[in-house]
This record gives sequence, structure tokens and C-alpha cells, in this order.
Amino acid sequence: MKKELKFGIIGTGWPGQQHAIALAAIPNVQLRSCADTNSERLQTFVETYKPESSFEDYQELLRDRDLDAAIICLPNFLHFPASLATLEAGKHVFCEKPPTMNAAEMKVLRDEAATRGLVYFFGRQFRFTPAVRTARDVIAKGRLGKIYRARATWIRSRGIPAGIGLWFTDKNRSGGGALIDIGVHALDTAWYLMGSPRPTSISAKVFRNFAHLVNVPIFDVEDEAHALIRFANDAIVELETCWAANLTDDTPVGPKWVGRESNNCILFGTKGTLRLKPLTLFADDNGQLATVPLEPRYGENSFEMQLRNFADAIRGEAPPINDAEQAFELMEMIDGIYASSELGREVPVA
Ligand SMILES: NC(=O)c1ccc[n+]([C@@H]2O[C@H](COP(=O)([O-])OP(=O)(O)OC[C@H]3O[C@@H](n4cnc5c(N)ncnc54)[C@H](O)[C@@H]3O)[C@@H](O)[C@H]2O)c1
Repeated sequence: MKKELKFGIIGTGWPGQQHAIALAAIPNVQLRSCADTNSERLQTFVETYKPESSFEDYQELLRDRDLDAAIICLPNFLHFPASLATLEAGKHVFCEKPPTMNAAEMKVLRDEAATRGLVYFFGRQFRFTPAVRTARDVIAKGRLGKIYRARATWIRSRGIPAGIGLWFTDKNRSGGGALIDIGVHALDTAWYLMGSPRPTSISAKVFRNFAHLVNVPIFDVEDEAHALIRFANDAIVELETCWAANLTDDTPVGPKWVGRESNNCILFGTKGTLRLKPLTLFADDNGQLATVPLEPRYGENSFEMQLRNFADAIRGEAPPINDAEQAFELMEMIDGIYASSELGREVPVA
């Protein structure tokens, strides 16, 4: 029988709740504790998911000698200090996206986890969705040939988030806007499906045009970002992301609070092109372009599959799919996009 692992959830908003639901479905893991400075949210979370203990101060949660790992679901500016404190307490780390506010912070966490022999894992449940896992299988079979280009998109017409304390639009607490919030998901999906090639240079432009749509005290982040990223294997990613824009009617209507929305990834290969939603392969068939619908072959909950992989990594039974080195390279790309936009030219990725 596998050793039971004990987890603590820090931050009890939507992602914290998804992780609690996922833990309940996995054998040999326990939701041991939770922490949140918002006592109302904490209380509701305790009543719903029934951890053994709860704290307003996450440092107290980390003092539990029997705790194996913390799942960090805090506002972005707390990802680095909370992840570091978790590692220093000798616990494994699962931290929600974005891994940190920048690559320099992520480098410290990567090195600290390696020195201590602990697992660092960043939250990216989309890597575990049925469509992405099926796409990985199709790519592994060589049906796309060489992937030379990907188009990564997450656009919304009216979807600017706020967060408890209105932190999403405040650069000091978020690290950025649409790019670091939803663009990071879109970019990572494309990059992961391409086999995580080494980024070499970036040309990008970010915009802030729609701050007037929300009533917040601070709005000093971008609401839109566009980037062209070059990789060492000669491939490129074109990234398009926005929280708000006057989108055209070919973008489908999404949930009420986001207006129109599209979140998709298209991978162009020498033998075939793969679109994630709906999952379809467009491939050459004796000189004609054929459309091949693909059935996603996996039915599992992506948050659950993600935490299963984290638990297996802690037990040394599988490598972590969302590992610290990839978190670092992802943050290097985010840094590069902001730097290129600021400088108005293409920048190398260090
Ligand atoms: N994977 C996903 O799809 C996904 C979805 C939503 C959010 N997220 C990420 O999860 C994180 C949290 O986002 P959110 O939307 O839940 O934000 P939120 O503001 O709604 O919730 C953050 C929670 O952290 C608590 N908190 C703040 N400071 C704290 C502290 N010092 N100690 C303990 N608790 C503290 C707040 O009270 C709140 O309950 C963000 O980094 C976001 O990017 C990921």
C-alpha cells in the first residue's frame, strides 16, 4: 500500500476548492489542513471539505511536522515567499500559475528545491485535459511531422478579473495583466505540446486600452499582449491574449462575465496541423488536405490527474510533468515579452 501523503491548501478561492475536490478523489492522500486570511472563506472551506485543521496564518500550517506538501493558491505576489517558506519548512510545493512574478524568483525556487531534494510543481491543469493528453499521443506518433509553428490564443472581450482585494490589475501584486494571468496558460499549452523547445528570442507588444471598463483603484497592467517567440529548434509560437478588446463576432460568446471568449491552440506541422478545440487533425491525404476529427481518449478530471502526478512525483514513482525547470523557462518567456514590449524591439531570452 502506498504511503498516505498529507496536503495543506493555502488560499481557499476557486483553485483551492478545485484542489480539495481533486484530493478527495485520489487514494492515499489526505487534505490535512488549510489556511486563508479571509476568515469567512476559511470557514466555508472547512465546512465543505473538512480538513483536520485550519489557520489564518499559513506559517502555522507549515509548522505541522506531519505535513508532506503545501498547495499554494494565493495572489501572484505571494507565490514566491510562500513557495520558499514551504521549501524551507522541508515540504514539497505545488504552486498555482503563474509560478512566480518573474524568472529570477523562479530560479531561486528551482535551486532551493533541488538542493533540498524536494518536488517543486507548478499548477497547469490544462496539460492534463483529455484534449491535450490525446494531442500529445498523436504528436508522439509523428502524425504532425515537425511542428514548425503554433498559434496560442486566449482572448476575452470583457473578462477583466478582480480578486479578493482587487489585486489582479495591480502590477505590484499580480506581476502583470492578461499575459501573466491567462496568456501564460495559452503559451504553456503550445510550448508543452511542441515538446518544450528552448526559447531564444522574443518580439512582443502589450497594450492597456480598457481600464475604464472596471472600477478598481489601481490598473497599471496590460489588458492585451501579442508575441512572436523563436525557439532553438527553428520553430515559433504566435501568442495572442487579452482580458478585454472589441472582438469581432467570429469569437464565440463565453460565460456572462467574460463576454466573447476563445481559448485555443493550433500546431502547424510538416505532415499535419492539429487544432485543440474541437480536437481535429488536418493532414495530407494523397495531395489533398483531409480533415480527421479526433476523439479525446481520456475522461479524467484534469485537476485530479495533475495532483496524481504531483503525488507520484513526491513518492519518486514518476517525474513531475510540471517541473521547476519548465516553470523557470516559462517565466523567462513572460519576462522576455514584457522586456520586448518595453524596449520596442526583439530581445534574446537569456
Ligand atoms: N489554474 C487555474 O485555472 C487558476 C484559476 C484561477 C486562479 N488561479 C491562480 O490562483 C491564484 C489565486 O487566484 P484566485 O482567483 O483564487 O484569487 P482570490 O483573490 O480570489 O483568492 C486568493 C485567496 O488567498 C487569500 N489570501 C490572500 N493573502 C493571503 C495570505 N497572506 N495568507 C493566506 N491567505 C491569503 C485570500 O483571502 C483569498 O481567499 C492566482 O495566482 C491565480 O493566478 C489559477
